[in-house]
Amino acid sequence: MSKLTLFAALMIAGFLGLQFSFIGQVTEFPADQIKNDQTNNSTKNQTIMKQTEKFEFQQLPYAYDALEPFIDKLTLEIHYGRHHKAYYDNFMNAIKGTEMESMDINDIFKNISKYPVAVRNNSGGYFNHTFYWKNMKANGGGKPTGKLAESIDKSFTSFDEFKKQFSDAGKTRFGSGWAWLSLDDKANLFVSSTPNQDNPLMDTAEKKGIPLLTMDVWEHAYYLKYQNKRPDYIEAFWNVINWEEVALRYEAALKNLGKK
Ligand SMILES: [Fe+2]
Repeated sequence: MSKLTLFAALMIAGFLGLQFSFIGQVTEFPADQIKNDQTNNSTKNQTIMKQTEKFEFQQLPYAYDALEPFIDKLTLEIHYGRHHKAYYDNFMNAIKGTEMESMDINDIFKNISKYPVAVRNNSGGYFNHTFYWKNMKANGGGKPTGKLAESIDKSFTSFDEFKKQFSDAGKTRFGSGWAWLSLDDKANLFVSSTPNQDNPLMDTAEKKGIPLLTMDVWEHAYYLKYQNKRPDYIEAFWNVINWEEVALRYEAALKNLGKK
């Protein structure tokens, strides 16, 4: 197993909060695990969030209205509680009774072309949304600092040029999909987009790497507030990015690639 593969597996397990001790159990989250700022949503979340086997439907890391005015409360409620939850449920159903139930999701992604399309769509929908929620926060935005900022400047010539390329990746993705900032196996940053619920970890990706930042450009991510104006949603997205989380992902990736 290469360092990149091993790291990707560990990183994904960390992001998804895989709890192997819960295999075979269905566990309600205790009330004290609900973040204080989610008081208004705690009852609803407790009914939504269950752990089934090794794959967890994690709680949203902030309140539904935390990203206002850039991403509205109703969009977040529906996006997380219905769309993301449906991907999770359908993923669980798609792998039920198969070898995939006990597999690492990275190994599923690495061989995604060999599995049914329902697995491809729903494993991606499950993973990508978990990843997306965590790279946003209330009072986010601004610019990255430190090593990540230096690397972005080096790779894209400037933050503004990176912002343009990432935004364009989202704007030009025909139909539905995702924009990504990722790290390749040579530790170079790159921007890409994927269709549907694909991601850079899948063997179907045009350019493969370890994802660091993603932006959902499905209409369900913005239509209620922005209607057909995807570019307005993309501009707003820059105000909610959690750069501290992205920097942690970057640092961890470099360390595990032996580049730090
Ligand atoms: Fe979505």
